[in-house]
Amino acid sequence: MRHRPPQDALPDRRPSRRRVAGALLAAAATALGVAPAPGASVAATGPGAATAAHHRSAPYLDARLPVERLVADLLGRMTLQEKVGQMTQAERGSVDADRSRITDLALGSLLSGGGSAPTPNTPEAWADMVDAYQERALATRLHIPLLYGIDSVHGDGNLVGATVFPHDIALGATRDPALVREVEHVTAADTRATGPQWVFAPCLCVARDDRWGRTYESFGEDPALVERMETAIDGFQGTRPGDLARPDRVLATAKHFAGDGDTVYGTSTTGTCTLDQGVTVTDHAHFAKVDLAPYVPAVRRHRVGSIMPSYSSVRWTDVPGSTPVKMSADRELLTGFLKERNGFDGFLISDWEAVHQLPGDFPAQVRTAVDAGMDMFMGPYSAPQFEQALTAEVEAGRVPVSRIDDAVRRILRAKFRLGLFEHPCTDRTGIPSIGSPAHRAVARRAVAASQVLLRNRHRTLPLSPSARIHVAGADADDLGNQSGGWTVTWQGRSGDTIPGTTILEGIRQHAAHVTCSADASAPTAGHDVGIVVVGETPYAEGVGDVGNGHTLELSAADRANIDRVCAAIRTCVVLDVAGRPQIVTDRLPRTDAFVMSWLPGSEGGGVADVLFGKRPFTGRLPVSWPRSEAQEPVNAGDPRYDPLFPCGYGLTTHRRHR
Ligand code: GLC
Repeated sequence: MRHRPPQDALPDRRPSRRRVAGALLAAAATALGVAPAPGASVAATGPGAATAAHHRSAPYLDARLPVERLVADLLGRMTLQEKVGQMTQAERGSVDADRSRITDLALGSLLSGGGSAPTPNTPEAWADMVDAYQERALATRLHIPLLYGIDSVHGDGNLVGATVFPHDIALGATRDPALVREVEHVTAADTRATGPQWVFAPCLCVARDDRWGRTYESFGEDPALVERMETAIDGFQGTRPGDLARPDRVLATAKHFAGDGDTVYGTSTTGTCTLDQGVTVTDHAHFAKVDLAPYVPAVRRHRVGSIMPSYSSVRWTDVPGSTPVKMSADRELLTGFLKERNGFDGFLISDWEAVHQLPGDFPAQVRTAVDAGMDMFMGPYSAPQFEQALTAEVEAGRVPVSRIDDAVRRILRAKFRLGLFEHPCTDRTGIPSIGSPAHRAVARRAVAASQVLLRNRHRTLPLSPSARIHVAGADADDLGNQSGGWTVTWQGRSGDTIPGTTILEGIRQHAAHVTCSADASAPTAGHDVGIVVVGETPYAEGVGDVGNGHTLELSAADRANIDRVCAAIRTCVVLDVAGRPQIVTDRLPRTDAFVMSWLPGSEGGGVADVLFGKRPFTGRLPVSWPRSEAQEPVNAGDPRYDPLFPCGYGLTTHRRHR
């Protein structure tokens, strides 16, 4: 595993021309000596005034022209070094100490890896940081603005104070495409208002083995369910021409193409991972039906702006002698399937140093990925080396200029569609809405709709507000645990990492008599209901793979809490706060009610809303629930399918009439 630095209903806001954008545009126009976009407030004189007449008609600075015309004009002006620069993405940490490197390297993009945030971690500091980087990009010869990417995978989780939504597996449990669209629109608004114009989401992975550490990033095991949830892309990008240029929209990324969630246990060669970045061993028919299927509507219907190939490989069982081929090197899939047969006109962004996993030396790895169809390279700390290698490959004639032009055309197209040439700097009008009651209300609704009721003996739920309740378990009152990975830091962590409402605080909003204990030590006498909150602690990616320090089994502490509380109190409710099903087969009979709460994020109140009947239980399992860890992988459609609970299972209740 690589080292990581630490790290609805929105009002219609047309972009307002920002003072700072005008100043930067002035710098660009003066230096280039071209007439700025109509209406910009820039000085018409200055050092470049003499050449203004010559460049005044520079089409690529005239937003009134069609995007393809702008792209063609700008591409025609670019040197090879400038083109290769556009194909290069660096991590902000590699240029923050010397931002002139952005200009010198003519970088096309920067990203914040998980946890790579400014200090202080505030909306204004984020916008200031991104604008400062942007200013360096606009200081290049052709003043091509930067694309800034970030993993807003459950809200803008990197930004302290942003609404943190339930992870995708919970959104899959809602079976509500409109709600998912609304969730991602809020996420887009929070993200764009603080600088980044591009999110590495949604994950369209089809999670087939719950032992995978990224199961919670998936909408579920059924490709048809994943496809229904692709309204996420519409929430991010909007659907109308011009939407991408709005201050509440971002470019989306469908990831990780393809088969990332369908690898075979034990085939990963990445560190101590067991599934993540492993090998999908399958035939073409299964791969098309399960792993590729979600990408067709993502491209054709939702017009996703970028796609991230997976670290994983595929080995074909219907091709004699097939050996594993990394997605980043698979020309048939990247260029043949996506670009040629499905008309994908966005760009392919490599995963973090994924190119380094390809065979051969670095120039060979770069050449292989570019030839396969990769357009932009996430080379967090190797931008200079990448640019040098690719330039040399082109100059040696081993990579055709036509492939470079195709890649750069795709990248520039996205930048023009985002309106970055007109408005290169952050439109901050959305900052006051970040973490607002309206945004948090969307998240609370999503949390409630995602809760899956798996057992409800004697109609234990909904509970009465007058019940005397004892709450036990470390996950009951822990915002970090209920948010999971990709929250402020890459891996996330336990504790008060973000502002929000814990599940215990949510319970206390409904019931007057509530005592609690992190473990099973507190007295339980005199209570009508025991609520035991079990679950996982945060992880991300392969770190969470079973066999890599993680298991699907309940912890000993969680088992002890269930045993103690459910033996001592007449009515016993268990909530599971985890990114995937845990093994509860032997404890289930001791409970009266069992709820899968997933990873609700900042609005734990949504869990209490269904516990006390403010909202009905409607959630349904997006994955099959195994009887044992050894039963994995278990998926609907398997021969002899016999999970503890089938995919799609979920009991319902009615609203409590007050
Ligand atoms: C990671 C993940 C990918 C993420 C990227 C940038 O390795 O695989 O999902 O978007 O790096 O953080």
